[in-house]
Amino acid sequence: MDGASIYATNANVPEVQGRLGNVVGITEPPAIEARGITKRFGHVEAVRGVDCVVHAGEVVALVGDNGAGKSTVLSIICGALAPDTGEVHIFGEALWPPSVHRAKQLGLEMAYQDLALAPDLSVLENVFMGNELLRKGWIGKFGWLDRKSMAARADTDIRRLGVSLPSMQLPIFELSGGQRQVVAIARAAMWAKRAILLDEPTAALGVKQSGLVGEIIRASADDGLAVLVVSHDVERILKLADRVVVLRQGSVVMETATSSLTLEVVVRAMLGGGKESEM
Ligand SMILES: Nc1ncnc2c1ncn2[C@@H]1O[C@H](COP(=O)(O)OP(=O)(O)OP(=O)(O)O)[C@@H](O)[C@H]1O
Ligand SMILES: [Mg+2]
Repeated sequence: MDGASIYATNANVPEVQGRLGNVVGITEPPAIEARGITKRFGHVEAVRGVDCVVHAGEVVALVGDNGAGKSTVLSIICGALAPDTGEVHIFGEALWPPSVHRAKQLGLEMAYQDLALAPDLSVLENVFMGNELLRKGWIGKFGWLDRKSMAARADTDIRRLGVSLPSMQLPIFELSGGQRQVVAIARAAMWAKRAILLDEPTAALGVKQSGLVGEIIRASADDGLAVLVVSHDVERILKLADRVVVLRQGSVVMETATSSLTLEVVVRAMLGGGKESEM
């Protein structure tokens, strides 16, 4: 595909004031652009020629049955896994060689759910892990953490996301599974400058917390982030997302706006049979 046609769909995206203060318009490349991604694990062709594009300010749902290749696509986009073929660009920058660190530098964060939280550390310490604020001046040179600024910043940011926790000082192991998941998602949303990837963010959550995660996702997109979210809760995700990409056996079988899309059409595309492609 040539350079001009790659960005053609961007013309439909309204101008968005991004977090970095940039106005994202038709001249901006997509926040996330994965093209022709394939990935094989031994005899399993997990991902076959997948294209996945997410613009700033947009929520895209990636859905499909178990084993369809969703997590593999996310791992490739966040730099954790190398594709066999294909390319990932983040705001026009090639993510090559694949590197989670590089993806973070380019503004992309992935929420790994509670697996990536340190259970013995507090909510606050977890939120700031790897992003600790050091005290200004000579004392900072010795690596002293500025706990007061960290607490204030975390409190403000987490409140802004609408998350209420008993205390930021509680160790993670004292939180419920759902609360941990919310912390992991809030952490990713807090640090992501341009794009955020969420794999099954509501899998272990009750109704209230699922609603909260939905609000974090919407608020993040309204703030100018590109959001790519994998979910089995197709009904809920269709209401939340602007666009849906359906994977079946590693291939994209549908990619369309969610407005005027019914659950039945998506489920049929996920499972196969009938008219399935609206690409
Ligand atoms: N590290 C791996 N080694 C071998 N096979 C793998 C590996 N990761 C994924 N696969 C295989 O690739 C295919 C796609 O897996 P993937 O985890 O991407 O699916 P998924 O859509 O996320 O499924 P689920 O909804 O169950 O999470 C599956 O057949 C899976 O068994
Ligand atoms: Mg998965």
